[in-house]
Amino acid sequence: MKAAILGTGSWGTAFGRHLAGSWESVALWGIEAAQVRAIADEHRNPAFFGDLALPSNMTASLDLATVLDGADAVFMILPSQAIRAVARQVHDIGLPDGVPVISLSKGLELSTLKRLSVVLEEEIGANHPIGVLLGPSHAEEVVRGLPTAVVLAGRGADWHSWQPRLSSSTFRVYTNHDAVGVEIASAFKNVIAIAVGLCDGLELGDNTRGTVMTRGLSEMARLGVALGGDHATFYGLAGIGDMITTCTSHHSRNRNFGEAVARAQEDPQSLLDHSVQVVEGAVMTRAALKLCAKHSIELPITQEVHDVLFSGKDPRSAMRGLMERTLRCEGE
Ligand SMILES: NC(=O)c1ccc[n+]([C@@H]2O[C@H](COP(=O)([O-])OP(=O)(O)OC[C@H]3O[C@@H](n4cnc5c(N)ncnc54)[C@H](O)[C@@H]3O)[C@@H](O)[C@H]2O)c1
Repeated sequence: MKAAILGTGSWGTAFGRHLAGSWESVALWGIEAAQVRAIADEHRNPAFFGDLALPSNMTASLDLATVLDGADAVFMILPSQAIRAVARQVHDIGLPDGVPVISLSKGLELSTLKRLSVVLEEEIGANHPIGVLLGPSHAEEVVRGLPTAVVLAGRGADWHSWQPRLSSSTFRVYTNHDAVGVEIASAFKNVIAIAVGLCDGLELGDNTRGTVMTRGLSEMARLGVALGGDHATFYGLAGIGDMITTCTSHHSRNRNFGEAVARAQEDPQSLLDHSVQVVEGAVMTRAALKLCAKHSIELPITQEVHDVLFSGKDPRSAMRGLMERTLRCEGE
């Protein structure tokens, strides 16, 4: 089996290293020559993983056609806003019918508010199974072989037959029938991770963190159900599972970003401009608010995160705004 992985960032590299344990070859495609050269020539990706050795059956190239040639599956592991343009290139090069394309990216396309699997379907076509593989999976831990579990969902393939091909004794893949819920949950948890980071930066304590995560889960489920997701999905790995991991981890760039904003180290836009890695939650905050207006639902935490990031609101007054909202029943 040959895997084509599009993206030489931290998750593309870590996931590639995992697959290289059981697949014959894993080819990565990237646009950053230094990263590609380091993986191809030195079997390392120092930009993300220092001196960690990558297996010899893991290669990399700047040429997309070379990487796609003979692939049994294509894995998209890119910033969400880059997915459409790269998918279009894949389509133009041509992929044999039936080869699945699986997204591991977490986000929505901001200009259309579409899920990434829908973007892939539009660009790559109906002759390919389209899947998503998402859940609590920090690259930094997957490369160390720490036990991790994720969810595989999608259309057009017998995804149960893909479970063992993607699993290992340290990487457990569950299937889920609800691609909508899995994708919305995975994208939205980053908004709440920024909210928790803001609270951590203000040193608001454990009660606050627990409250923001729990009320954030309510927002996630409200938005996800409005978009056609199954309520139960938000209480699974892609929902609360990824939310807990992201909101409590020092590996999370979204949580760390929120913390840095609250500590007033720099203004949010300048932090985003200088981030080496993609901070998906900032884009998702905008997408979620557009969706909430469209579906007439309330996302109060998301609104406050948005106002802090994009309207210069002070994080402390954002928190006060949340605490002083009209009192209500928890289930409402
Ligand atoms: N890092 C993780 O632990 C992790 C885990 C699960 C999911 N994800 C998701 O995977 C996606 C990628 O994350 P990452 O951590 O690998 O990001 P990253 O910032 O480490 O790497 C992104 C990669 O995409 C490339 N890239 C950027 N713009 C591009 C473009 N226009 N065309 C082609 N390539 C481009 C960069 O060169 C880089 O190789 C994100 O959606 C993220 O939420 C990340």
